[in-house]
Amino acid sequence: MIEWQRGQTVDDIDTPALVLDIPTAERNIRRMADRFAGGPVRLRPHIKTHKTPLLAHKQMAAGAIGVTCAKLGEAEVMIRAGIPEILLATEVVGPAKVARLVALNRHAMVITVVDDADAARAISDAAKSAGLRIPTLVDIDVGQGRTGVSPGEPALALARQVAEMPGLSLVGLQGYEGHLQHLTSAAERERQCRAALKKLTDTADLLRGAGFSIEIVSTGGTGTSQFAGEHPGITEIQPGSYVVMDSHYGTVEGLGFEQALFIVTTVISKTRPDVAIVDAGMKAASIDSGMPLVRGIEGAEFFFAGDEYGRVVFDRPRSDVRVGDRITLVPSHCDTTINLHDHMWVMADGKLEEIWRIEARGEIR
Ligand SMILES: Cc1ncc(COP(=O)(O)O)c(C=O)c1O
Repeated sequence: MIEWQRGQTVDDIDTPALVLDIPTAERNIRRMADRFAGGPVRLRPHIKTHKTPLLAHKQMAAGAIGVTCAKLGEAEVMIRAGIPEILLATEVVGPAKVARLVALNRHAMVITVVDDADAARAISDAAKSAGLRIPTLVDIDVGQGRTGVSPGEPALALARQVAEMPGLSLVGLQGYEGHLQHLTSAAERERQCRAALKKLTDTADLLRGAGFSIEIVSTGGTGTSQFAGEHPGITEIQPGSYVVMDSHYGTVEGLGFEQALFIVTTVISKTRPDVAIVDAGMKAASIDSGMPLVRGIEGAEFFFAGDEYGRVVFDRPRSDVRVGDRITLVPSHCDTTINLHDHMWVMADGKLEEIWRIEARGEIR
């Protein structure tokens, strides 16, 4: 049970609390949307970052054509919240998931991606039995080495097979350049991004030349959205982190988005002059992209001190930091940190407005 009142400040709220500065998040949403407003490339933001329907609705209101999800569970949450069109960017494999994908397509449009003919056939068979044709993208590996068939002839061979499947409708390609998102140098990121995207758009041209109608060519994250959004032949982009940002993306040059997400902690022990122990550890902040940063205290560094504890080490004795004080952290990776929390404290001008449930938190299937 969370005790809260509108107007509370970080000094009053219960901790550890995942705090969203909503005016900043709204500025980020608007900034990304404005970059592509009226242009040929459309925005289908990835909601795996925030997992929160209210933020997805703000993205839709700013001009997004739908959202991208990583998991069926996320798509189920978004569809129940009224988002009409979803790109499910991860391969759907196994009878349980195929059944859920087909069920969702009865209520809304969930575009699926495939990189394997047998897996695609299983979806097609189930969709055909339900009297549906599911819009499908062939997933291309443009260099990340994760999912996707190789560009060029292997993609064409799979497209030919998919086109013969009665429960699928081949509508395009996806190729996500995830390995390039955090390249610090903007020039190097652009150079590698354009080379990766050429593989994708050349493959789209190859398929069109073979008679396929390729309406969707989807790619792009926060780090590459600018380049992907200008690359001829790309029709839509799927960035996620830009809404809230994190300290890892904070090291990437030239993005133009502001930090909107914080973890507010309380000092629960201060028995040494240059160390404070706070109430947030591994269960409140992820570490896959390094330690969170300490906000607003120069020379302070955060280290994990256990599941529920963090150690903030100062560069000098600090008698001004006392038990009960609040210390704010900047998450190192927004996606994995948000997934640790059930709620976010939504604040504007330092005052609590609402607490939102992170509806798709934990939706890993
Ligand atoms: C397939 C896919 N598309 C888009 C994104 C969004 O990337 P970002 O959060 O870096 O904007 C991700 C993130 O991992 C992804 O896996």
